[in-house]
Amino acid sequence: MTALPRKVEAGTATDVADIVIAGGGVGKTFGGGAVVALEDASFNIPKGSFVSLVGPSGCGKSTLLRLIAGLIERSSGSLTVHGREVSGPHADVGMMFQRATLLDWRTAVENVLLPTEIHRKPTAEDRSRAVELLKMVGLKDFVFSFPSQLSGGMQQRVALARLLQTGADILLLDEPFGALDEFTRERLNLELMRIVAEVGATTLFVTHNIGEAIFLADKVMVMTPRPGRLARMVDVPFARPRRPELQQTPEFNALVAEVRDILGTH
Ligand SMILES: Nc1ncnc2c1ncn2[C@@H]1O[C@H](COP(=O)(O)OP(=O)(O)OP(=O)(O)O)[C@@H](O)[C@H]1O
Ligand SMILES: [Mg+2]
Repeated sequence: MTALPRKVEAGTATDVADIVIAGGGVGKTFGGGAVVALEDASFNIPKGSFVSLVGPSGCGKSTLLRLIAGLIERSSGSLTVHGREVSGPHADVGMMFQRATLLDWRTAVENVLLPTEIHRKPTAEDRSRAVELLKMVGLKDFVFSFPSQLSGGMQQRVALARLLQTGADILLLDEPFGALDEFTRERLNLELMRIVAEVGATTLFVTHNIGEAIFLADKVMVMTPRPGRLARMVDVPFARPRRPELQQTPEFNALVAEVRDILGTH
């Protein structure tokens, strides 16, 4: 039988053309080999998918994101983004961390314009896009506010708008809401799902929370420590859009138990 071309859903892509990030036995050591941060990680990330990374502290989650961003050099294996080997920092990815790292003396919109300013003088068009993005993240009334006038959650919203302003189609989010209270985090997670679907970005999202990892993702990359290994890529079958109530269903909890089992903390 000949395989017919078909439209592939995010998270289930098997066609090479749909793979945005591919790792083949990626490894990273520090200190001349003394610390193995990541060992032999092989994975395919389909275009437009949302992949959560879970695993205990020190298992190499941030290391993997930094390798994909080209901020550090891998020690072994191959790693491609859009089919090209990563050999240094590149513009296909944007990163976001636990802390927003906004410039205190700049308004929200001026912070969002920063990535543009690195390349050129922002145009009126850049400016209106920045304002649009601030609206998208729910900060319509805070465009001209300074970071000190914003809550922690609002500052992370600005950081998300700034990330989208770069135009990167791959978002690397390293515990972006990890420093926020649970209520704020849950709200931002819902909005993040809506926003990445809207812009069609491929997203890698690091979290320590297994429920959160599953709720958001098409696939959960489960990592184990010493040395950091990719234990399993777990498919999350739930339809979108997803509502918070999903987390109360037996099917959801069964998947949480499965991931917990893999992590060995069940
Ligand atoms: N620049 C570095 N120099 C030396 N060792 C490093 C460096 N960066 C990371 N490591 C080591 O690599 C391992 C993986 O670190 P990494 O930061 O990727 O873990 P993580 O999974 O992100 O942890 P956490 O959940 O605590 O953020 C750890 O043992 C860490 O000490
Ligand atoms: Mg980390």
